[in-house]
Amino acid sequence: MGNSDKLKSDLLAMVEATTTLAAVEEVRVSALGKKGALTDAMKGLGKLAPDERKAAGQELNAVKDAVTQAIDVKKTSLSMAEMSARLMEEKIDVTLPTRPEEKGCIHPISQTIDEVVAIFGEMGFSVAEGPEIEDDCYNFTALNIHEDHPARQEHDTFYLPGQGEKGRKVLRTHTSPVQVHTMMSEKPPLRVIAPGRTYRCDYDATHSPMFHQVEGLVIDKSANMAHLKGVLTDFCRAYFGVDDLPLQFRPSYFPFTEPSAEVDIGCTREGGEFKIGHGDDWLEILGCGMVNEKVLENCGIDPSEYQGFAFGVGIERIAMLKYGIPDLRTFYESDLRWLRHYGFSALNVPSMTGGLSR
Ligand code: PHE
Repeated sequence: MGNSDKLKSDLLAMVEATTTLAAVEEVRVSALGKKGALTDAMKGLGKLAPDERKAAGQELNAVKDAVTQAIDVKKTSLSMAEMSARLMEEKIDVTLPTRPEEKGCIHPISQTIDEVVAIFGEMGFSVAEGPEIEDDCYNFTALNIHEDHPARQEHDTFYLPGQGEKGRKVLRTHTSPVQVHTMMSEKPPLRVIAPGRTYRCDYDATHSPMFHQVEGLVIDKSANMAHLKGVLTDFCRAYFGVDDLPLQFRPSYFPFTEPSAEVDIGCTREGGEFKIGHGDDWLEILGCGMVNEKVLENCGIDPSEYQGFAFGVGIERIAMLKYGIPDLRTFYESDLRWLRHYGFSALNVPSMTGGLSR
């Protein structure tokens, strides 16, 4: 038997003896790799006389082809064997009951904001945004709340350090500065709501240092108090799902609206049970009024041509009322049991046609 025949039968025997894909790969490297036996033999061809070289070269090429083919065949059969072994092992019992799904849910604050946006969206309002870190001017001065105004103290403001009296930054104490941003950057007519975070230094069962409001602003040539009443009545009836919900507008005071009102909705508190709707009692839920002429002027809008109304609603407050959540602090505790109880399905997006909350 010639050298190449011996090499061939040795290599083929080695391939044949393998039982794993890794072993086949080892044989491949030892035969055909850079330092492999066949590669070595081919390198030796250079030393032969030219007439011998040709025949020997052809023989070695034939060996290479045979070994390569044997390796391919072996690899295919081993990987098929491995696959069928795995399939035998990984049996799926399709009769097993499914695992209860761990599902996330929508936080009542997000849900309430989505509901409010859906209702006002239907009325043609768009959503406006503003920064949570505000200039003192946007949060107070432009809204007609001057340096010595008592509302500055009432708002329990968080001031940011490092700035002088005039240029200081504050965490916005209400969403009303978004009114100012909107009036300054857009041309009337305007119809926006601005939901978002607000901050006041206060903490108990009904106050949190961070809470949410939604602001509303309408500016055009004829918007009046009757429109304000209509918009807020429609909103409250849609939001609380009570078609004949009575509203009461009580005169009040805000520096940025004139006249101003606080709005109460009808309720009953019979036998310790609280219910929203027709009744003998009232519950305050929001502040509103006609935008003060001084505010329009501060924002570059001519009060002899334009007028409008604004309102501000506490998101937590209306969420607590609608969903019977007794303590405001629980909104921010991230207690999973609470979230599962009060949370909403992510698939039921609130809408006026499909329903606000299901
Ligand atoms: N910004 C007021 C507050 O936080 C609410 C309000 C907004 C009142 C707009 C009137 C008009 O209490």
